[in-house]
Amino acid sequence: MGGSSSRAFPEGGRQKRRPGAPREGINGAELGPRPPAAPHPAPDIRGPQPLITTAFTFTIYIACVSQLGASLFSWHPVLMSLAFSFFMTEAILVLSPDSSLLRSFSRKARVRAHWALQLLSTLCAILGLSIIYYNKVVHEKPHFSTWHGLLGLLTVLWALVQNASGVTLLYPKLVQRWTLSTRKLYHATSGLLGYLLACTSLFLGMCSLWFSAHVTGASWYICALCPLLTGLVVMNQVSNAYLYRKRSQS
Ligand code: HEM
Repeated sequence: MGGSSSRAFPEGGRQKRRPGAPREGINGAELGPRPPAAPHPAPDIRGPQPLITTAFTFTIYIACVSQLGASLFSWHPVLMSLAFSFFMTEAILVLSPDSSLLRSFSRKARVRAHWALQLLSTLCAILGLSIIYYNKVVHEKPHFSTWHGLLGLLTVLWALVQNASGVTLLYPKLVQRWTLSTRKLYHATSGLLGYLLACTSLFLGMCSLWFSAHVTGASWYICALCPLLTGLVVMNQVSNAYLYRKRSQS
């Protein structure tokens, strides 16, 4: 059983090579210098998989915590997480050459996926906002009386304006002011700022009395990390795409 090793190393064990001595093969032939180690591919943390998994797990967790379907309110956190954590994050990532799941598709196909996902995100956001508004009417509670409520309203309004600006990029003849590339830059900049606003609204939702009563300790911190993480990755992607283009143009 141990024959081959005892043949290669006659004295029984693996022998130490003297420093500077040439490397030898099994039958004593000189092997020459050791070839450079094959590069170990570093995991791409900007890639779609970790972020999609994070956004998806976050939305599922929120659905479990709010016991989706048990009350009218339970739909609000779920629809909002689906809108801003899942659909909107995917919609932005789909355009990134580094991290797009559809990177083998044409730019045209990726743009189509981008606006379809943004549309789904906006539909969920409008539904989520209408539900919490109606729920407050039913329970005779004041509207937009917290930072979360105020920033949340602003986020949904921003999403509507951002969608309208996207339509003008799809149909450039609709707007004559500014060149198309300037309008694209404005769309990306406002998209990034709005996405960060959405992450802040999600975070403030988790600071609400309802959420912090249901989720405590490490679970709360892990949830709070989700919008922070997606916000950082999206910020990195959008600024890289536009700053790089600007630098290479100048
Ligand atoms: C970006 C995503 C979100 C947006 C845009 C948003 C928007 C809003 C708005 C506008 C209101 C106030 C409605 C009114 O006063 O009539 C509200 C209330 C509320 N939301 Fe959200 N929401 C989001 C995510 C979440 C999440 C993830 C949770 C839970 C984890 C949550 C929990 C609540 C609660 C408990 C209230 C009632 C108390 C309050 O008005 O602050 N929301 N949300």
